[in-house]
Amino acid sequence: MTSIPRPTPAVPSSATDPQAQSGGQSGASPENLLSGLGLGTWGMGENPDKAKLEIAALQRGIDLGMCLIDTAEMYADGGAEEIVGAAIAGRRNAVCLVSKVMPHHADRRGTVAACERSLRRLGVDCIDLYLLHWLGDVPLAETLEAFTLLHAAGKIARWGVSNFDIDDMQELVGIAAAHEVATNQVLYNLTRRGVEFDLLPWCQQSRIPVMAYSPIEQGRLLSSPPLLRIAERRGASPAQIALAWVLRRPGVMAIPKASSLAHVEQNHGALSLRLEPEDLAELDRAFPPPNKAVRLEML
Ligand SMILES: NC(=O)c1ccc[n+]([C@@H]2O[C@H](COP(=O)([O-])OP(=O)(O)OC[C@H]3O[C@@H](n4cnc5c(N)ncnc54)[C@H](OP(=O)(O)O)[C@@H]3O)[C@@H](O)[C@H]2O)c1
Repeated sequence: MTSIPRPTPAVPSSATDPQAQSGGQSGASPENLLSGLGLGTWGMGENPDKAKLEIAALQRGIDLGMCLIDTAEMYADGGAEEIVGAAIAGRRNAVCLVSKVMPHHADRRGTVAACERSLRRLGVDCIDLYLLHWLGDVPLAETLEAFTLLHAAGKIARWGVSNFDIDDMQELVGIAAAHEVATNQVLYNLTRRGVEFDLLPWCQQSRIPVMAYSPIEQGRLLSSPPLLRIAERRGASPAQIALAWVLRRPGVMAIPKASSLAHVEQNHGALSLRLEPEDLAELDRAFPPPNKAVRLEML
């Protein structure tokens, strides 16, 4: 496939430089669009009674500088993209929008059509980062061709992948250059550390930012005794500990989903939390790192 010229850096400085993970004070600047902590949207747009709160939660996150918003055509059958569209109305330039095409739409025509539907629901002309949600039956080269067409038409600024294990990544960089891949979005949190064995080092070496999804294991991590202990010691919340742990690695972003103002504000606090070596050691004992390769897990 032909090379995609990128209007913004392939590896945003904020994704690789821990010092730059400040929450993105200047959201409109392309260099800062991918700050360390973003906003997830899976589960939003499902219940009209919750729409106002969800929109307000995303807007609070944007106000705080969490300007990376992750969504997908799959979430609530497009309903989450509509919530995002409402949240960003009038402030398009402050955010970096990520959306995803489902694998069964990911042939040449299907990808273009799916992207156009997403653009309409989001109410924007261009998606900043468009991902293949997971690898399906469509040959990867065909999806990448569609990404190239979409980029040439100004409908996406960059593209990437999600749920790609190391062999999938190796196949990908056999077709496209590593610097063209803006991210691999994968499941990563204290209870899902398999990626640390090979995928994460491989992505870091290839300078491909990793976006950690379900960074607090959809809330299941929050009652873990070691997390509660460390949270108490640091005067923080368990969610902040879990997020600070994910964000401690250069080249890793996190996109927790929160649908209340309080949760968004609390999660933002994780950016200023530094875990001490004793915290990290305690977490390693409770959630041991992998000592062999394991298949990438998905939620
Ligand atoms: N690429 C993929 O295949 C894939 C798969 C899964 C997820 N994702 C993306 O990643 C995002 C995050 O993952 P996720 O939604 O699965 O799980 P998550 O972010 O780990 O957890 C979300 C859950 O945690 C709760 N929560 C958030 N902040 C909290 C806090 N400070 N204190 C207590 N509870 C808190 C939320 O509740 P409230 O909503 O009530 O605040 C929600 O129930 C998704 O929304 C989606 O955008 C991508």
